[in-house]
Amino acid sequence: GDVHHYDFVVREKNFTRLCQTKSMLVVNDSFPGPEIRVHKGDTVYVNVHNQGYYGFTIHWHGIKQPRNPWSDGPEFITQCPIPPGTNFTYEVILSEEEGTLWWHAHSDWTRASVHGSFIILPVVGTTFPFPQPDEEEIIILGSWYTEELQSVVDEDMESGRDLPSSDAYTINGQPGDLCPCSSEATYRRKVDYGKTYLLRIVNANLNAEIFFAIAQHNLTVVGLDGAYIKPITTTFIMILPGQTMDVLLEANQPLGQYYMAARLFWTEDPQVDNFDHANSTAILEYNGNYTSPTSPSFPRTLPSYFDMLGALSFTGQIRSLATPEYPINVPLNVTTKMYIVVSMNALYCEHTGCDSDYEIAASLNNNSWANPSTDVLQAYYRNISGVYSTDFLDQPLSHYNYTEAIFDPDIVYTSQGRKVKVLNYNESVEIVFQGTNVLDHSMSHPIHLHGNSFYVVGFGLGIFDNETDPKGFNLVDPPQVTTYAIPKTGWLAIRFIADNPGVWFWHCHFEKHLSWGMEAVFIVKNGGTAETSIRDPPSY
Ligand code: C2O
Ligand code: CU
Repeated sequence: GDVHHYDFVVREKNFTRLCQTKSMLVVNDSFPGPEIRVHKGDTVYVNVHNQGYYGFTIHWHGIKQPRNPWSDGPEFITQCPIPPGTNFTYEVILSEEEGTLWWHAHSDWTRASVHGSFIILPVVGTTFPFPQPDEEEIIILGSWYTEELQSVVDEDMESGRDLPSSDAYTINGQPGDLCPCSSEATYRRKVDYGKTYLLRIVNANLNAEIFFAIAQHNLTVVGLDGAYIKPITTTFIMILPGQTMDVLLEANQPLGQYYMAARLFWTEDPQVDNFDHANSTAILEYNGNYTSPTSPSFPRTLPSYFDMLGALSFTGQIRSLATPEYPINVPLNVTTKMYIVVSMNALYCEHTGCDSDYEIAASLNNNSWANPSTDVLQAYYRNISGVYSTDFLDQPLSHYNYTEAIFDPDIVYTSQGRKVKVLNYNESVEIVFQGTNVLDHSMSHPIHLHGNSFYVVGFGLGIFDNETDPKGFNLVDPPQVTTYAIPKTGWLAIRFIADNPGVWFWHCHFEKHLSWGMEAVFIVKNGGTAETSIRDPPSY
């Protein structure tokens, strides 16, 4: 592959949305940030210059980074934040991924403004597994907060309060016509009748799963998380925070203007019921002569909030290509099995020093992650003790009725720690994630793994049944992804081969849940040879 160099200059800049101006950290003065566009198998060096006031890191979401955790990015897991006034060069090594991915800050809530697309084209001389589109368009779905975000988050964490909810959703940085002071800047895309467009859609929202549709147009989804899928033709998509989709759009409707609209499917935000900025819009505008109506038409097919059946009807169709050219490699014989209960919890403040009796927490098998001050990768590589422990539980501490709204303190309160799961090289792993309704706090969780994509072999509502549910597993053409939803009070079964030595973060991609500790770390041990071992650390 080729080698590419990018420079990211990261500094504060003023932006005005919803009638208010605020300063926020962005890359190369733009929101969303710049795109990276390379070919499969290339290597990309990104020199990140921190000209802001606080430290942060950047993560290359969905990129495997074979044996190269040094450049993966999550703060205090694989590196410490890049201090203001300094720079850090990431080495992003591309291997099997192809399609649309993205990059984002991986420090507190900085990713709200520090993110952009990472486009991986087929190897030079080869083509897509679908007809060549005429043009491309990047669509980044984001969240907007009118307040300076980081200080609000810090204060709320300190006092044990709920974390901030967004004030609007955005398409390519703009809330759109339906939000105050926004219509002049609404994002517009011109199209020619008869052409096919490849939409590269990124959900960069912090806490919202999103429905997206374009009025009167069908969408054909052909890729997900940097892997191709069997085409799905649909009138809307449902996209999780962290997910990326490749979607074909044929401009085949009468000349005119049409809204592209994004609406919340599900959010943790309690005020959603009276939230009037929950629809963000952009405009698809045909070239040519026609008289435009006073306002573009709105997609009537966009499902409404909490439309679980709508969401499942879309997600249930996703299958990997699984052809000889695009083979799958789902492990059939599992060597490590885990059953992980995913829960919202509370933590006593006497342990953490917050101002009230308890604070909100979240956990995986009763471990609510607390970041160390030395990163886990350094500690592992240099044998520094006391940074983490290796006793992450493969099974829950106790079994209870996971779907019931439980208030029993023995279950509600979680412990906090830095328990990591150690895997041998080439282990075949199966994880069943079980969603719960502790504290009446049931919602789905977009679980994301660094360092490995995984196969979604099954999911369902209710409590996972070890006898019957595995019989329904899809081992033929399961989707290969890096983020997928654990359904609300349901389960998700995934499999992967731990063939990437390193230290890899995994977590819920709702920023709130991440802040509350819904995360853990895998350490994948070296195999026997240099080619199956972690690369040498960069010389900085
Ligand atoms: Cu999109 Cu841990 O990241
Ligand atoms: Cu979650």
